[in-house]
Amino acid sequence: MDSRRAIRTVLNEARGLTFQVMKAPWGGLTLRAYLAGEEVGHVTTETLDDTKSHLGNLFVKPAHRGRGYGTLLAQKAAQSLKEWGVKTVEADVTSQKSYRALVSAFGTPSATAFESIDEIPATSYHEVDGEGKPGDGWAVSWNLQ
Ligand SMILES: CC(C)(COP(=O)(O)OP(=O)(O)OC[C@H]1O[C@@H](n2cnc3c(N)ncnc32)[C@H](O)[C@@H]1OP(=O)(O)O)[C@@H](O)C(=O)NCCC(=O)NCCS
Repeated sequence: MDSRRAIRTVLNEARGLTFQVMKAPWGGLTLRAYLAGEEVGHVTTETLDDTKSHLGNLFVKPAHRGRGYGTLLAQKAAQSLKEWGVKTVEADVTSQKSYRALVSAFGTPSATAFESIDEIPATSYHEVDGEGKPGDGWAVSWNLQ
């Protein structure tokens, strides 16, 4: 972790960010981040087979973005998936911010559907229209250590 991210992590711990990890009815996990009792973000995973999961719905409430919460959610998800023996994680990435958060958590991807991060819009349409529509993204996968 670089020093800028390390500082963000310490600040977030000082702010009292807490996490709840629950097994989801569909066999994956639901992970929620709370600040002073308010849910500020979440991420979900879906189990594809014994060793493979899909990560989706990484979301931080607009008022709380840019403080490292998305990265921390992705890191908590990575930790839980590794503990459960997951070896491969797939995601559909829709913005540079989410890609950066996921790379902080999962490391360099083993495969991507793009040549460079510049091909991903800096701001996804999720954030432009504010409706949180699910949409197509750029497929990315990671082999977990
Ligand atoms: C994507 C999302 C979860 C990121 O959450 P967040 O808490 O704002 O993310 P972080 O603060 O952890 O930042 C993640 C990265 O984006 C960068 N970033 C954050 N806000 C930024 C901004 N306004 N401008 C430029 N970069 C920014 C951060 O610097 C960080 O990169 P770094 O670690 O290399 O420095 C959030 O923007 C969101 O909910 N978007 C709408 C839903 C969505 O598109 N989900 C993704 C589906 S794949």
